[in-house]
Amino acid sequence: MARPRPQRVAIVGPGAIGSVCAAILQRWSLHDVSLCGRRAHSDATTVVLDGEPPILLSQPVRSDPREPPDSSDFVLLTVKAHQTASAGPWLASLCQQGTMLAVLQNGVESMERAAKLAPAATALPVVVDCRVHSESPRRIVTSTPLRLIAPQGEPAQRLAELFGGYPCVEQVEDFITAQWAKQCWVAVTGLIAITRQTSEHFRVGPAATLAHDLALECVRVARAEGASLDDAFAADIADRLGRLPPGSGSSVLTDRLAHRPLEWDARNGVIQRLGRRHNLPTPVSDVIVPLLISCSQVDGH
Ligand SMILES: NC(=O)c1ccc[n+]([C@@H]2O[C@H](COP(=O)([O-])OP(=O)(O)OC[C@H]3O[C@@H](n4cnc5c(N)ncnc54)[C@H](OP(=O)(O)O)[C@@H]3O)[C@@H](O)[C@H]2O)c1
Repeated sequence: MARPRPQRVAIVGPGAIGSVCAAILQRWSLHDVSLCGRRAHSDATTVVLDGEPPILLSQPVRSDPREPPDSSDFVLLTVKAHQTASAGPWLASLCQQGTMLAVLQNGVESMERAAKLAPAATALPVVVDCRVHSESPRRIVTSTPLRLIAPQGEPAQRLAELFGGYPCVEQVEDFITAQWAKQCWVAVTGLIAITRQTSEHFRVGPAATLAHDLALECVRVARAEGASLDDAFAADIADRLGRLPPGSGSSVLTDRLAHRPLEWDARNGVIQRLGRRHNLPTPVSDVIVPLLISCSQVDGH
C-alpha cells in the first residue's frame, strides 16, 4: 500500500495544545511542521506526553505572517478563542483553496469565528480533550492522552490520517452533543478561576451545589441548541469536578494566576448569550460572567 504523502502543517498558536500536537507529529509522522506564533524565538520546547520520553521541539517559532512557510495542507489553530482575531493575518496567509483548517479550541462558536478569517479553507471544528500544564515556559507535560473529537466525514478522516501514527482522532456522528458536553464542562471550570480554589473544594457543600446549578443551566442551553444531554449529565459534571485529583485546576485558572486575559466569553459568556436567545434563565452565569470579566480586568487587562 502506498505510504501517505507527508503533509505541510502549520500550527498557529504554539502554546500548550499546539506544542502537544507538534510533538506528536514530530515523533509519529514525517510531516513538515511549522510553528507560527506572535513572538519569534528559537528556544526549544520539551513536551512530555503520557510519561513517554521527552520530545524536543527545536524548530523556530515564526512571527511574521507576511513570511509564511510554504503553502500549507493543514493549519491547526490552537490560539485561545479570544486570540483568534489577532491570528487572522496568519490564517489569511496560510489558508488557500484546499487547505484544511482544524480549529482546536474550546467553545461552540470557535470554528465559525475562525472560518470567517479563512474563507478559502475547509474548516473543521475539533473538541480537544487533554489535561496539559506547563511546568515551566519551555516544558509542557500532559497528564491525560490527547483526544481530538471531530464530526464524522471526509475532513475528519483527513485529520485522522494526519495523526495516523498516534490515533488520537475520534469521529462522532453527533458532534453537537460532543461539543456541548465539553462546553458544559469548561463553563463549570469558570468557578475554579473565580474562586482560585482547586477542584476538591467543589466536592461537597454549597460549592458543589453551585457547580451543579451552573452545569444544569448549561445543559438546558445545550439542549435548546440541539444537544442530547439530560439533567443527569449536569450531576455527572459536578461530580467529575469534585473527583479530579486534589490540586487540579484548569487552563483558565492558569491564565488567571499568570495575569493573562481569560477565555471567559467562549467558556461562559456564550451560555448567557444563547440562554437569552432561547428565553432560558441563566442565573449563575449572570453572576459569574461579570465576575470573570472583572477577574480579567483586575488582573491587569
Ligand atoms: N491547555 C489545556 O489543558 C487545554 C485542554 C483542552 C482544550 N484547550 C483549549 O485549547 C485552546 C488552546 O489553549 P492552550 O492552553 O494551548 O493555550 P496557550 O497555551 O495559551 O497557547 C496559545 C498560544 O497561542 C499564541 N498566540 C496568541 N496570539 C497569537 C497570534 N495572534 N498569533 C499566533 N499565535 C498566537 C500564544 O502565544 P504567547 O506565548 O505569546 O501567549 C500561545 O503560544 C484553547 O481554546 C483552550 O481552551 C486547552
